[in-house]
Amino acid sequence: MKRHFDEEKKFFGIDIMASEAFSNAWEGFLEIVEPHLPEYLHWNEICWKFVLYLAEVRLLIHRNTRGMEHWEIVTNTVMYSFAVFIGLLLLKWFIRWLFFNDKSLKTRIVETFFAVVKKIPYLSGKIKSEIDKSLTEMSKTAFPMPDDMHYRTKLPDKPLTEDQLDKEVDCLLSFGKYKWDDGHVSGTVYHGGQDLTRTLTKVYGKFAWSNPLHADIFPGVRKMEAEVVRMCINMFNGDENCCGTMTIGGTESIILACKAYRDRGYANGIARPEMICSDTAHAAFNKAAHYFNIKLVQVPSDKKTFKVDLKALKRAINRNTVLIVGSCPHYPHGIIDPIEEMSKIAIKYRIGLHVDSCLGGFLVPFMEKAGFKLPLFDFRLPGVSSISADTHKYGFAPKGSSVIMYNSKELRKYQFHCAPNWTGGIYASATIPGSRPGGIIAATWAALMLHGEQGYVDCTRKIVKTRQFIERELRKIKGLVVYGEPEVSIVAFSSNKFDIFRLSTALVEKGWNLNPLQFPAGMHICCTMQHTHPGVAERFVKDVADEVAILMKDPSGPTTGVGALYGMAQSIPDRSIINQLAIGYLDAYYSTVKLPSQQAEEAKVVEDGTKKEEAKGTGTRNGSIRKRGVKTGNAKH
Ligand SMILES: Cc1ncc(COP(=O)(O)O)c(C=O)c1O
Repeated sequence: MKRHFDEEKKFFGIDIMASEAFSNAWEGFLEIVEPHLPEYLHWNEICWKFVLYLAEVRLLIHRNTRGMEHWEIVTNTVMYSFAVFIGLLLLKWFIRWLFFNDKSLKTRIVETFFAVVKKIPYLSGKIKSEIDKSLTEMSKTAFPMPDDMHYRTKLPDKPLTEDQLDKEVDCLLSFGKYKWDDGHVSGTVYHGGQDLTRTLTKVYGKFAWSNPLHADIFPGVRKMEAEVVRMCINMFNGDENCCGTMTIGGTESIILACKAYRDRGYANGIARPEMICSDTAHAAFNKAAHYFNIKLVQVPSDKKTFKVDLKALKRAINRNTVLIVGSCPHYPHGIIDPIEEMSKIAIKYRIGLHVDSCLGGFLVPFMEKAGFKLPLFDFRLPGVSSISADTHKYGFAPKGSSVIMYNSKELRKYQFHCAPNWTGGIYASATIPGSRPGGIIAATWAALMLHGEQGYVDCTRKIVKTRQFIERELRKIKGLVVYGEPEVSIVAFSSNKFDIFRLSTALVEKGWNLNPLQFPAGMHICCTMQHTHPGVAERFVKDVADEVAILMKDPSGPTTGVGALYGMAQSIPDRSIINQLAIGYLDAYYSTVKLPSQQAEEAKVVEDGTKKEEAKGTGTRNGSIRKRGVKTGNAKH
């Protein structure tokens, strides 16, 4: 050791560590520590080299500060330290950007580029003013209200009478321009008919005050929930090991499944769990990834079939993967992913496979009995470890109900949360909320009872036949293309001749409300029981055919109205702008400030103009009138 030290001294030609005492202490320290350290790392050498380098740095500083005043040394030290600090910060940012980021490298580069561009003073001002303009416009147009309707922002001084309440409730019920009950709206309302609504409301009323958090007080609700879950497990051919819980909707079912896989990953020593979804998987997986700090690896779907690209999926699997996701069917194009192949992959790599059947959960299990053949997609496949199915969609239960199922209690336990030491008592809850609406559970149970298997098979037959009819007719329309081979209730389509959002605008004018799609642009209709009523599907395809015929006369015409907004949103490469606008929309949703309608503003312009002309004989300026308009709106909130 001593010999080695002397050699190093010579090698650097400097007198380091003049103190013999230090050298002895150092060697003593190493003798104690060294036997416990891995031999191949040559700790002795590493430590000595470190000390020697430090000494050389010291010498360097000495050389460079020779002949300097004290104040110069102090200022230089401060400046160099500051530069090193900034350098370290930049390095930390870069390392985080490069290695500790869940987004793809391409997304990161694009986002960073736009973030930097937006820092340029001139551009940032311009972009901000454009965004502000759009947000103001949105706040005025997103939720229009008739002139004689106002927000209630304070409790009424005196209670309303039942008559007054009825009047106001009916007015709110008929508020809105779309006629969802006669089939003009895609998806959205999964109505099981007036008779069912009456009965479900009655059942809900009886359990309106119940809460399954207190199962000892409401054992009937617990029984109903356990039964709903078991009935769903049987629909999906689960065995006695399968289990699940009810949740308040598809998103909660998905979020909880993701949490369960994440926590099982943690328990198995995976510190940074990842899940793999196709780009067509529901946005709820994105939300789950965001809430629970799971890395979401998005793989593309096949450009023609819109099924998940299995090769890309396999390539994305690594030792951190805890979950792969298949949809049955997915929301954008109504296509079922190749669940059988995914099950094999899940078994091979020993990872979870979640089947998102939120949308089709009360259609796909009945398709075979309704006469439509499907490949396997449920617990009969050994790789399927969880399934989500929404009772509040084609189960025709009231909104606020869904089911999440697992193939074992071992997996479900990771969904649960327990706080054994809480001063309020031992707290254990199965899902995200604490208290839950027992009324919804009771009404869901009632919906299942009132339909029975036969009821759901009949509804499935009607809905799938309607989808087949619409799909067939749309394929005949020149200028339209149907996306993939839909199998359940959705038909997605676009055009290779004109901007599909022009058709969207035209259909809105005719009272239809479809769902827009992006990347690639398109729209879809999701068939519900409303579309199975006589004449509805025929009216839809006729309206589409008529409008396409008009558009085909001038295929390159401009896109206007609602469609222009969708088109524009797709073409903006900086997605953070879309984020800002979407947040603006949510802000507008919760606003109770009544903004002046277009008509009111125009009327005010005319009125003010007349007054000013009378007083001064001059015209009016829009700006001042706008400001007054907003004030009036504020005063009414
Ligand atoms: C395939 C799919 N998964 C999940 C969801 C989310 O369901 P919810 O809106 O009930 O949260 C939907 C909703 O349409 C869906 O279509």
